Amino acid sequence: MLEVRQLQTFYGPSHVLQGVDLEVKDGQIAAVLGRNGVGKTTTVRSIMGLVPPRSGEVWIGGRNFAGEQPHVIARGGVAYVPEGRMIFADLTVIENIKVAERRPAKDWPLDRLLELFPSLANRRMHKGSQLSGGEQQMLAVARALVTDPALMLFDEPSQGLAPLVVRELAGVIQRLRDEGVSVLLVEQNLKLAEVVADEVYVMVKGRMVYQAPIARFKAEEEDVKARYLAL
Ligand SMILES: Nc1ncnc2c1ncn2[C@@H]1O[C@H](COP(=O)(O)OP(=O)(O)OP(=O)(O)O)[C@@H](O)[C@H]1O
Ligand SMILES: [Mg+2]
Repeated sequence: MLEVRQLQTFYGPSHVLQGVDLEVKDGQIAAVLGRNGVGKTTTVRSIMGLVPPRSGEVWIGGRNFAGEQPHVIARGGVAYVPEGRMIFADLTVIENIKVAERRPAKDWPLDRLLELFPSLANRRMHKGSQLSGGEQQMLAVARALVTDPALMLFDEPSQGLAPLVVRELAGVIQRLRDEGVSVLLVEQNLKLAEVVADEVYVMVKGRMVYQAPIARFKAEEEDVKARYLAL
């Protein structure tokens, strides 16, 4: 579904992504773990075209999208759930979803989204600012889904959410996979990643330093945490 090869991204003189390689297989969930500031957000923003990578390849469905504009990449079937949710505070739940719908959704029309997210259905006329953190996160997911993506990029969706809400979010992400949506999940918090991921990557200083299927990651977890994720 997604294959990133040797991606290099700079902010001015600062060389942030130093050759990122990663893959999300069709219908699978890949998680990228890493401490503060290692380049997780820059990775998803580079894939989405929001920060132009200087070099490297971003293969999606047989086409290299590296260097393309975000709307071209979105049309290629990629949706992005940004860090901090970025919900429109003054728009209602329905309006937030509608503004993201570029053409009538086939896979995930509004009624199906409200069925998937009952808490949003109950608050459909509430403004973004009136929602809880968990509801805002679900709205951010709904807004991405209404574009009928084949691949969803999640940037730290569990941030600031209570454990119960994180569990609900895990259920939603698993449901997406069951429906055939591939997922790249970037997280600092292991809990969500551990529950949903098929493949685990660990990032340090702009590179992937570890990759394993979830079963092997679980066996090696303490060691991996101590080596790469400890504060
Ligand atoms: N717009 C920017 N301009 C300059 N430097 C930036 C910019 N955004 C991020 N950086 C720097 O790039 C590096 C990687 O940042 P990035 O946001 O990708 O990390 P992250 O892994 O997502 O961190 P976090 O866990 O805090 O979200 C950091 O050193 C950060 O300070
Ligand atoms: Mg980040």
